[in-house]
Amino acid sequence: MSRQVPHYAVFGRPVAHSLSPQIHAEFGKQCDIPVIYLRHDTGELGLAATLARFASAGGVGANITVPHKTEVLALCKSLGRRAQRAGAVNTLILREGHWHGENTDGIGLVRDIQLRQNLDLYQRRVLLLGAGGAAHGVAPALLEAGIAQMVIANRSRARAVDLLDRLGTTDTLRACTLQELPEMGSFDLIVQATSAGLDGGLPELPPSILTPHSLCIDLSYGRAALPFTSWARSQHCERVADGLGMLVEQAAEAFALWHGIRPDTDPVYNKLRISARF
Ligand SMILES: NC(=O)c1ccc[n+]([C@@H]2O[C@H](COP(=O)([O-])OP(=O)(O)OC[C@H]3O[C@@H](n4cnc5c(N)ncnc54)[C@H](OP(=O)(O)O)[C@@H]3O)[C@@H](O)[C@H]2O)c1
Repeated sequence: MSRQVPHYAVFGRPVAHSLSPQIHAEFGKQCDIPVIYLRHDTGELGLAATLARFASAGGVGANITVPHKTEVLALCKSLGRRAQRAGAVNTLILREGHWHGENTDGIGLVRDIQLRQNLDLYQRRVLLLGAGGAAHGVAPALLEAGIAQMVIANRSRARAVDLLDRLGTTDTLRACTLQELPEMGSFDLIVQATSAGLDGGLPELPPSILTPHSLCIDLSYGRAALPFTSWARSQHCERVADGLGMLVEQAAEAFALWHGIRPDTDPVYNKLRISARF
């Protein structure tokens, strides 16, 4: 890539499966903006060195995915309000030679839940599975949408408690381990935000967390979402979704930050849903 060409990329490990390049190419076509958007696996050099090489080659904006969303905070000179509240960054913008960090995951998930899955979040009881970078990104946005209660359940208790502390220990929030889930009752919305599905796994979940009307949404998409979405369907849950809608919505927010225009997400979502066959 020539030094002169401004370009964008997604950084993660693994990242080969990412649909972000395709999504940003579609948005670019729709908005008549030429977009160069690549994938960078951080496996070899690590995040900091891969990002530095990208910036010196003309990279001006980036998406950060698993497992770097909290690690990247240390590489940002400034943070937007959502990134600050979340303690996690999924979007970088190069400003005067430094990275400015934003978080579009939360608004992306809330838009997908409310507009595509047709669930009004107001006064809902929510279970958030996982306490990594994605969970950090979506938790503040779910709270701001007016939910009644959120239980954060994580494999390691310490990380669930860290996220709860960051959000503020109000009556609205509880933290627990996955083993404690049978004591937590049922939920209107279950957000599967662990990365277990990337290895084909799923934490053991008690059916008691479901009602017949619960919406079960996995933040992953493709094969990685299957362990959870298949489990939910096997429990006769009627409302099951993967993270494709959130992916397209968070990408549209990032596109707007970089290019100053928010693309229409439905045509891109529909095209990907058909072409990706999942
Ligand atoms: N659709 C979208 O736009 C979108 C956006 C963001 C993320 N995502 C997806 O969300 C997932 C999580 O990403 P992330 O950035 O949060 O990753 P992360 O920061 O690496 O966090 C991973 C989380 O998963 C938990 N976990 C991992 N393996 C597990 C297992 N076998 N059993 C139980 N828990 C396990 C971890 O628990 P411990 O704390 O105990 O290690 C931690 O809470 C990824 O699949 C990612 O692709 C999708």
